[in-house]
Amino acid sequence: MPRKAGPAEHDTAARLIPPRPSLAALREAARHCTACSLYAGATQTVFGEGPAHARLLLVGETPGDQEDRSGRPFVGPAGRLLDRCLAAVGIERDEAYVTNVVKHFKWTPRGKRRLHAKPSTMEIRACRPWIEAEIAAVKPKVIVCLGATAAQALLGAGFRVTRQRGAFVPSALAPHVLATVHPSALLRAEPEMREAEIARFIADLQVAAKALA
Ligand code: URA
Repeated sequence: MPRKAGPAEHDTAARLIPPRPSLAALREAARHCTACSLYAGATQTVFGEGPAHARLLLVGETPGDQEDRSGRPFVGPAGRLLDRCLAAVGIERDEAYVTNVVKHFKWTPRGKRRLHAKPSTMEIRACRPWIEAEIAAVKPKVIVCLGATAAQALLGAGFRVTRQRGAFVPSALAPHVLATVHPSALLRAEPEMREAEIARFIADLQVAAKALA
């Protein structure tokens, strides 16, 4: 007898993922993703980008307003700060594969602006097959989770960036996995704290850079 669909059987992107897909095939399939309702308010899917076998994979939360318009991850203010901090540890942005745990922009209106909103557990769960497939295709040596949403999606709900940032944690996802804060948290930091917070972020990235060396 057919069972009723309930929250535990909520749709995910798993049904859209071809067996042993290339990144190009994943990107194309993700363009049509409707596994959660976020697609309806977004301009387009913002899939990861970078070398197909990058040794470093960086994963954020969701695309922001500029990413939604351009279709590319981390191209707005947080992305520019990320690029600057990567350069400080000798990593060029285009050496890394950069992506998000949720591939559509989630926003709430504020006048004419679209303000970033945090994705729900269901939305993260629906999107998770994409990041898993990206990691399986890229096979990075090092994964850096940017912010609590990415860290908890990939390392478990109990992960605390405040306590565990900047240190490798055991994970089946890659040989070296660590989490740090999200670059947008640095942009929101009090001006008198900002440079110190950026220095701490760079120190966390340095840990990742050493593992790549
Ligand atoms: N914040 C994210 O987490 N990802 C982006 O792509 C941009 C901002």
